[in-house]
Amino acid sequence: MEEVERVKPRTMGRFVASQVALFGASAQHGLPQLEAAARSGGSVEMESFFSRLSLDIIGKAVFNYDFDSLTHDDPVIKEDLLCGQYLVPAGSNLFISVYNLQRSPQLWDEPDAFKPERFGPLDGPSPSEANTDFRYLPFGGGRRKCVGDQFAIMECTVALAVLLRRYDFKPDPSKPPVGVTTGATIHTSAGLHMLVNNRDMSGVPPPLPRSAGAPADSLTTGCPHAAEAAAVAAGPSAACPMGGA
Ligand code: HEM
Repeated sequence: MEEVERVKPRTMGRFVASQVALFGASAQHGLPQLEAAARSGGSVEMESFFSRLSLDIIGKAVFNYDFDSLTHDDPVIKEDLLCGQYLVPAGSNLFISVYNLQRSPQLWDEPDAFKPERFGPLDGPSPSEANTDFRYLPFGGGRRKCVGDQFAIMECTVALAVLLRRYDFKPDPSKPPVGVTTGATIHTSAGLHMLVNNRDMSGVPPPLPRSAGAPADSLTTGCPHAAEAAAVAAGPSAACPMGGA
């Protein structure tokens, strides 16, 4: 503990210094635009400036990737475009309603029904814009597609696997209806209140042995969380660090 206290201030100092360097370098990329405006007396749309700056910082900090959107304006519509019968003039902002696209009865059978098999075999590839001919766009598509898509899919698959093997969830009828509202993203209007019950695991067969080409060790070698991952893969047990029954 004493050791931690001794190391902490130095570690924090280095962390803060690296953040300041990163944020500062990214912000400096916007200076030419501001200097030009200061010289000419023109105005700058600062909301867009800060949005681009934060995108550049996230790209650099999380992925070591240079979006450089502060210096590279990249309008999607560069010249007049005929989209079916519609003329889209160069420089337009084009918004696509992903919600309407993904719930269109012209594109999907029973669009509001929960039918994951509509995307093909359940053990097949995850649905994406590429294998649904751009009818399903959870992460957008093209050059500005979400760079965190695989991270997000893995994150929710693992979290759901850990929770659903232990518990059944049902809507709590005593709470207000879930409802839907929109802001930057779509979310519930009154929360998602669920009743949680331990699952009856008595009929569940034990996990299959992993000898056929995918031993747990080979999946986790080198990972600092190897022991936890192997315990989670093996299912709930007294030894499970994730708190299995
Ligand atoms: C379920 C979770 C997520 C969803 C549904 C989602 C969705 C999206 C969508 C729709 C876009 C716009 C794509 C386009 O313009 O075509 C986007 C962009 C982006 N996402 Fe995500 N995202 C998620 C998670 C993440 C995570 C975990 C990260 C980072 C670790 C991330 C980082 C980004 C970045 C940096 C962009 C901007 C890309 C660009 O403008 O070039 N996202 N995301």
